[in-house]
Amino acid sequence: MTITTQPIQGLSVVPVTGMLGAELSGVDLSQPLDQATIKAIKDALNQHGVIFFRDQDLTPEQYLEFGGHFGEISVSKALPTVAGHPLINELIRRPEAQPDVVGGVWHADQTYRDEPTYGTMLYGLQVPEYGADTAYINMQAAYEYLSEGLKQTLENLKGVHVHARNQKNRTPEEIAARPEVAVHPVVTTHPKTGRKALYVSPGYTVRFDGWTEEESTPLLNFLFQHALRPEFGCRFRWRKGSIAFWDNRQVWHYAINDSTGHLRVMHRLVIG
Ligand code: SIN
Repeated sequence: MTITTQPIQGLSVVPVTGMLGAELSGVDLSQPLDQATIKAIKDALNQHGVIFFRDQDLTPEQYLEFGGHFGEISVSKALPTVAGHPLINELIRRPEAQPDVVGGVWHADQTYRDEPTYGTMLYGLQVPEYGADTAYINMQAAYEYLSEGLKQTLENLKGVHVHARNQKNRTPEEIAARPEVAVHPVVTTHPKTGRKALYVSPGYTVRFDGWTEEESTPLLNFLFQHALRPEFGCRFRWRKGSIAFWDNRQVWHYAINDSTGHLRVMHRLVIG
């Protein structure tokens, strides 16, 4: 995988690891952005899978305007929203020990939908001094590092994705009536870069289409374990004012649940 450290259109783009993520600086996202800067940010996202900004200070309106440059904003109905801003989800993690947190499983967002939104943006308003990082895995690298034989086998498979988690606000009857299940190819091609990615995750993929769960589990477990090689990943340490923007067609993410004793408040946009 080729990674550039050259500034793009006045932005500084510094990779986080050899295979995933880049930190972008030299831009104040509260200000109107010109087309060249927006294109440079899109290029960085396409190339690095997840991009990070530091020390931003945005009103909800400015945050929505920034997110809107990258596609239509469509809120996640399963999560609370910010008062007066129904398009922004608010993730509040209270100081008490949390048995579960939003996103506390490796996943790509909304793959249980026929047309998942591609982008997710997270803005840290109140974050602990340490802990509650978000971790990411490059699913294009995970695909590239498989054998040619397995790649060929996977080309013919589809995965069944089921939204079985974070369903506490729905009754069993509601879940049965609208179960939120989608079938997607196991290997997908990125529409902008043409790179292939593994498109299954422990969070949502329960079996291969046409296979039983018992038949699917050994191969799925192999893929999940393979994808978690440290070389494929990066981990983001939050500061107040940080923004992460990731492409769910390229990466998994995981919310790390280790911030007992601290309040964490994030504003989240779902894009595209
Ligand atoms: C998410 O899965 O969108 C939440 C990630 C986080 O809170 O770190």
